[in-house]
Amino acid sequence: MPHAPAAFPAARLRRLRRTAALRDLVQEVRLSPADLIWPLFVTDVPGADVAVPSMPGVVRLSVEGVVRAAEEAAGLGIPAICLFPYTDPALRTTGCEEAWNPENLTNRAVRAIKAAVPEVAVMTDVALDPYNALGHDGLVRDGVILNDETVEALVRMALAQAEAGADILGPSDMMDGRIGAMRAALEKAGHRDVTILSYAAKYASSFYGPFRDAVGAGAALKGDKKTYQMNPGNADEALRLVARDLDEGADMVMVKPGMAYLDICRRVKDTFAVPTFAYQVSGEYAMLRGAVAQGWLSEAVILESLLAFRRAGCDGILSYFAPEAARAMA
Ligand code: PBG
Repeated sequence: MPHAPAAFPAARLRRLRRTAALRDLVQEVRLSPADLIWPLFVTDVPGADVAVPSMPGVVRLSVEGVVRAAEEAAGLGIPAICLFPYTDPALRTTGCEEAWNPENLTNRAVRAIKAAVPEVAVMTDVALDPYNALGHDGLVRDGVILNDETVEALVRMALAQAEAGADILGPSDMMDGRIGAMRAALEKAGHRDVTILSYAAKYASSFYGPFRDAVGAGAALKGDKKTYQMNPGNADEALRLVARDLDEGADMVMVKPGMAYLDICRRVKDTFAVPTFAYQVSGEYAMLRGAVAQGWLSEAVILESLLAFRRAGCDGILSYFAPEAARAMA
């Protein structure tokens, strides 16, 4: 049990806050570039390699651009990057076939990065939305998201990404049974060491808006994702989802979004004691970036927001602020 403080003046809790040295000495949690995963948007669509309006400072990069970003990550001590494709609209279909094309944009980018900077871990997203003419993470028939058919598609997609050299697969689709199906297929194909960072507790959140602009899935999306992503009013359900994904073979788990769900991060870490990540999503980036740009908040909020995840028990954070934060920590 934590020791109850003695009565004043035996205890003066300000004593340990008096100087920077003392404050440093007793700081409980720290943030380092090694705690960060940097999400990147990649495209090969002519003219699409431009800034994302709702995410000032974030640019869709060419394959060469993401290779340079991976080199930058290595230089900054950021151990991992995560790729999201802006797919040519002509390749988006209702069958999402481009998702498991071995030569799709993501898979080409993974190969290029692993050839140039093998020490950087490459994470890929496993979900159909960047390839889906209907903007959903799953296959849709008559307006219904099909679970089991989607899982089959995701398995093909995951295998193609593993084959391309991805180190971490990030299933962000929230279908039931996908982790087990992927893990079995990876084992069978000899990809025994490919890790899975499951988006286990992913909420149906309005904080994803700018991301959907970035991958071009927002305009296409019919309806919402509430039949597969979690209800923001639930917390116990997050624990059931994490338990399920760990049982099915996930190596690490994620809570998403981040700042509005810090209670979930803490409960997941306390309950399971497994590598736990939070995704500081596009809308969180937009809020902080926008307020800093207006001069309404100081830049210091960026590191403060990331430190909150460490305090809530997260081992690491996916953040669009990763390079800037790493530079600020140097
Ligand atoms: C979709 C996916 C989303 C994000 C990561 N993967 C959006 C969604 O579920 O609609 C969101 C990331 C962000 O907002 O930064 N598979």
